[in-house]
Amino acid sequence: MDQAKIWKGNWTFVLAAAGAAVGLGNIWKFPYLAGESGGGAFVIIYLLCILLLGLPIMIAEIYIGRYGRKSPINSVTKIIADFNLSKFWLVLGWLGALAGLLILSYYSVIAGIAASYIFSSIPASELNPAEYSVQYYSDFKESPLLMIFWHTLFIGITCYVVGKGVVDGIGKAINILMPILFFLVIVLCIYSSVTGEFLKTFTFLFNPDFSKITPGVVITAMGQAFFTLSIGMGSIMAYGAYMPQEQMIGKTVLIVIFLDTLVALLAGFTIFPIVFSNPELSAFVGKGLLFESLPVAFHAMPLGSIFHSIFFILVSIAALSSSVSLIEPFTAWIEEEKIFSRAKGVVFLGFIAWVIGLGTVFSDNIWSDYKLNGLNFFEWTATITDQFMLPLGGLLICLMVGFFIPTLDIEKDLNISKIFENTFKSCLKIIAPLSVLLIFIYALT
Ligand code: PFF
Repeated sequence: MDQAKIWKGNWTFVLAAAGAAVGLGNIWKFPYLAGESGGGAFVIIYLLCILLLGLPIMIAEIYIGRYGRKSPINSVTKIIADFNLSKFWLVLGWLGALAGLLILSYYSVIAGIAASYIFSSIPASELNPAEYSVQYYSDFKESPLLMIFWHTLFIGITCYVVGKGVVDGIGKAINILMPILFFLVIVLCIYSSVTGEFLKTFTFLFNPDFSKITPGVVITAMGQAFFTLSIGMGSIMAYGAYMPQEQMIGKTVLIVIFLDTLVALLAGFTIFPIVFSNPELSAFVGKGLLFESLPVAFHAMPLGSIFHSIFFILVSIAALSSSVSLIEPFTAWIEEEKIFSRAKGVVFLGFIAWVIGLGTVFSDNIWSDYKLNGLNFFEWTATITDQFMLPLGGLLICLMVGFFIPTLDIEKDLNISKIFENTFKSCLKIIAPLSVLLIFIYALT
């Protein structure tokens, strides 16, 4: 690989990977899934999945990217050639490229809603902010044109950034904006925990009611662990290709996972105290949770409408740093293969994701009655990607690095202590693949 494409310094990779990981999955999805799936039971399994599956798979995924130093499809192709593996492994690269487009299709719709919320704080004179907020979100969803407008804008900006190249534009912006996002989430979390129902939230999130653990909850928690860490589909592999050779993968991954989990938990401690202290709000409203509850907290705060706008600007930026990583692997491949220029390639892919995203837009309005097995179009797309494609990608990554490229000197490359190394190996070779397989079998039976 061209040396200029390798990031300088260790922090660029950490920030880029954290930028890909921290996004709507933490601030929007984690709280609503925890709400729908019974709180504590879900959270405990989610944390276990992060440690036992997320950690080893993220390490292995970066490892493949850094070894190949190309787009995920071509890094896998290089490994196939170098180690004389079956062409079957190409599935890994293509599955990821496809999953990226599918996730982007609905990610952009939700990110579009977040972007529109920059301009929609609850009027200061409003006497019933919770009712207002629920009504506002419901009216918004019922307008396909409005949703399409914001969806188009968000996907357009994503394509623009990726077309320009990731390093100068988004890379620099993330350096400044991610710390502000962390700061604001902490401030908001303290605010709503002090003014809202902190203890109820604590019990809800950390007191597991084991009777609520069903196969569905386990699968949802696993899917969310993959989604939130951006693993199993090549985003992290693509970034691994730009990682300096001497950077320690093990330590880096620990930092990224810590930051990602922290933001998800802080988001939970921001949203649920507000929900539990307002009878008009419910924890079980699905994907509207963030949009219905947070504006209520801002309304009650001094200078709330300013904080409201800043917060949604930052959520949109966190979403952008993730959406960029969703489309980057496929775009990088198109560019490497010289099928199109980077700019044309990303417009082509963005258009496909945009069209699929219309299904998510319509799920809330004109297609709301069309359901298959009780799930609408958005729910199907999210379920297939998070609960099937990403875990399958993760399983293939474990098997490839764990069993099929044994001559690689992974211990030296990982730079980790003996205890961590042994734990890593058992997770990679046994615990992670077996867990994913068992969960799949469970789901299918
Ligand atoms: N991890 C991102 C989030 O939590 O919002 C979403 C995501 C980005 C998933 C990139 C998968 C991916 F490859």
